Amino acid sequence: MAEQMSDVVTYEVTEDGVAIIRADNPPVNALGYQNRLGLWNAIEKFDADATAKIALVHCDGRTFFAGADISEFGGVRADPLLPQVCDRYEAATKPVVASMHGTSLGGGFEMGLASHYRIAQKKSKVGLPEVHLGIIPGAGGTQRAPRVMGAANALEAITTGRHMSAVEAHELGAIDRLDDSGDPLAAGLAYCRELLAEGAGPRRTGERPVPDATPELFAEWTEKVKKTAKGQNSPLYCVEAVSACMLPIAEGLEAERAVSAKTHSDPQRPALVHAFFGERAVNKIPEAKVAPRKLETVGIIGGGTMGAGIAAAALNAGLSVVMVEMNAEAVARGEKNLRRNYASSVAKGRMTQAALDGMLEAKFSTSASYDALADVDLVIEAVFEKMEVKKEVFGKIDAIVREGAVLASNTSYLDVDEIAACTKRPQDVIGLHFFSPAHIMRLLEVVVGDKTAPDVVATGFQLAKMMKKVAVRAGVCDGFIGNRILGAYMKAANMMVEDGADPYEVDAAVRSFGYPMGPFQMGDLAGLDIGYFNRRGKDATRDPETRYSEGFLDRMYENGWLGQKTEKGFYDYAGGARSGPPNPEIPAMIEAERRKLGINAKPFSREDILRRYIAAMTNEAAKVVGEGIALRPVDVDMTSLFGYGYPRWRGGPMHHADAVGLDVILNDIREFAKDDPKFWEPAPLLVKLVEEGRSFADLNKG
Ligand code: 3HC
Ligand code: NAI
Repeated sequence: MAEQMSDVVTYEVTEDGVAIIRADNPPVNALGYQNRLGLWNAIEKFDADATAKIALVHCDGRTFFAGADISEFGGVRADPLLPQVCDRYEAATKPVVASMHGTSLGGGFEMGLASHYRIAQKKSKVGLPEVHLGIIPGAGGTQRAPRVMGAANALEAITTGRHMSAVEAHELGAIDRLDDSGDPLAAGLAYCRELLAEGAGPRRTGERPVPDATPELFAEWTEKVKKTAKGQNSPLYCVEAVSACMLPIAEGLEAERAVSAKTHSDPQRPALVHAFFGERAVNKIPEAKVAPRKLETVGIIGGGTMGAGIAAAALNAGLSVVMVEMNAEAVARGEKNLRRNYASSVAKGRMTQAALDGMLEAKFSTSASYDALADVDLVIEAVFEKMEVKKEVFGKIDAIVREGAVLASNTSYLDVDEIAACTKRPQDVIGLHFFSPAHIMRLLEVVVGDKTAPDVVATGFQLAKMMKKVAVRAGVCDGFIGNRILGAYMKAANMMVEDGADPYEVDAAVRSFGYPMGPFQMGDLAGLDIGYFNRRGKDATRDPETRYSEGFLDRMYENGWLGQKTEKGFYDYAGGARSGPPNPEIPAMIEAERRKLGINAKPFSREDILRRYIAAMTNEAAKVVGEGIALRPVDVDMTSLFGYGYPRWRGGPMHHADAVGLDVILNDIREFAKDDPKFWEPAPLLVKLVEEGRSFADLNKG
């Protein structure tokens, strides 16, 4: 009879002396209090139980422990803590076996490492992904992983946090036995019986040496990680902790605990945990329980930058794709664009040319006629960003595509309701806003119109899931969530430059905040003609009441300095380089522009720049949430992280604003408003939250 050790752990001894310590804590057997308590009680019982000769740690459900319970972070955790539990398992006086399946991650893998023998299902994964949560493996992982796989391998695994196949872990020596039966309990029991028959005793990982742990190795990794961490602290904490494996195990574990304590009080930890839960929270939408429509074939209109990227994303998700272009020549160009998206995969050997050709042969077709779209499940339009073109396209597809298909536009800014209104089925129309390059960038804004049906929204989210993207539900407005907020902080950057800031200093300030590039580098990358047409073109959407601070950008357009594509923009890209020194003609050009406007340049420090940049971002984001364009602040955060290069370790603009203090940011906005009350009009939601002493995080709680 199984005996309850806690609410979620049982203990039972077979007739031949195998003590089964069994956890059942769905969905992922996270090592929360009840699991830790049960595991502790069970190992105490096992050691004292004369009928038990060997213990088997097993989890019911879809996975072995997927790690510590992340939702407990930041609060007071009750004893026994996970490091104590792991140490206790290692100290057991009789052998302990872990049978791992699913995803044995973080504290879960550490439980495995603290056990004396490890068997894993062949298709399962293991890993120490704590680095992504801003912490280190803190339950002995930094000390025990090097002892089973060597220090260099452990450093790689821990600083990248990657999920490793059980097969690779077995090759590295971290797993003793692989099993392919799909029955981890039976396989674990059989392994225990074999070990008993062999007379195996406890085999403590902590007692093993780490021959390749040298001061030189850790010095080398410290330098390496400094270059790649991009402002994130946890990879460096990881190296620091692993380096303690040069010490005897007890001292090493103590050192690990000291580093772990540092990570838990680092503000990057709550920011990264917010990102972890945020990635999942964005799926919690009103339509979450609605069944999506059938989704097997996708028609893509336009084979340009976006169409070709979306086609690759759809093919990679296993969907069949038909690409429609204007004429035979454009069709050929579209297919070429698509193939170009696979070029580096083929060059790097991740995919063979034959496999690519085979996949395209089976799943991809092209046409210059809209008739090819008649039977598809979903159409994604990615033609030029012009309302009249979009309307013409939607009018055509309305007449051709089968009833019940989803009709989507990849528009960046245009009104999805207006597009829907030119069809007889506005309930089937939705915005699916991909980001460039669409087969790589993880964000998908699902833009829900006034009349969009719930199962069409659910289909958008289903598509994102199939493409392994992060979908965020957005309402209709100029630029939706991401581009609308981007517009505000770009505007703030332009105003600062016109008022005296050096654009290179603005870029440097924004990079120092953690973005991979600054706004003017980004402008060069995207092409400065895009912004010019947005301001000056027929479909221009800018508010004529706001200050026009883009004169210097207009001069750049007139000079043909469009950025990377003309080899000159804010920077010089001579010879087609992807980066380069500042364009030496820019400062004088901007100064001439200021003189023309009668502006006396004033100095902006890096701090001034960031204060304005962050204030503009927060204010617009608060408007986006206040108007219901984003469901919650966390939706803005995930949009920024997955589509706009916002540093994950800051959690997102709303999380960051909470950390800075909403009152501090509102004060900044009010100060800046003295010069320009129109642009710096405080968001009503921000004012309200400050008055009520609440935060954006409070709104995420619902
Ligand atoms: N703690 C708390 N909740 C967790 C969790 C954890 N470790 N892991 C997953 N969950 C929750 C998710 O938030 C989600 O909740 P929801 O349904 O309310 O949104 C639910 O469990 C299911 O998770 P997913 O939707 O992510 O399910 P998947 O099947 O797609 O993925 C997984 C499963 C691969 C295990 C993935 O959830 C994952 O990567 N989890 C985190 C693993 C991790 O980082 N472990 C290390 C934790 S830190 C640690 O162990 C510290 C130690 O060193 C002391
Ligand atoms: P692009 O100019 O590279 O490609 C547009 C393609 O559409 C061209 O190949 C053109 O031949 C084709 N096309 C035009 N009219 C057509 C018609 N009536 N029927 C069939 N094909 C037609 O443009 P890009 O960059 O791919 O943009 C497409 C859409 O995606 C735009 O709405 C844009 O705003 C949006 N978008 C662009 C992003 C980017 O970074 N480029 C990011 C997100 C959205």
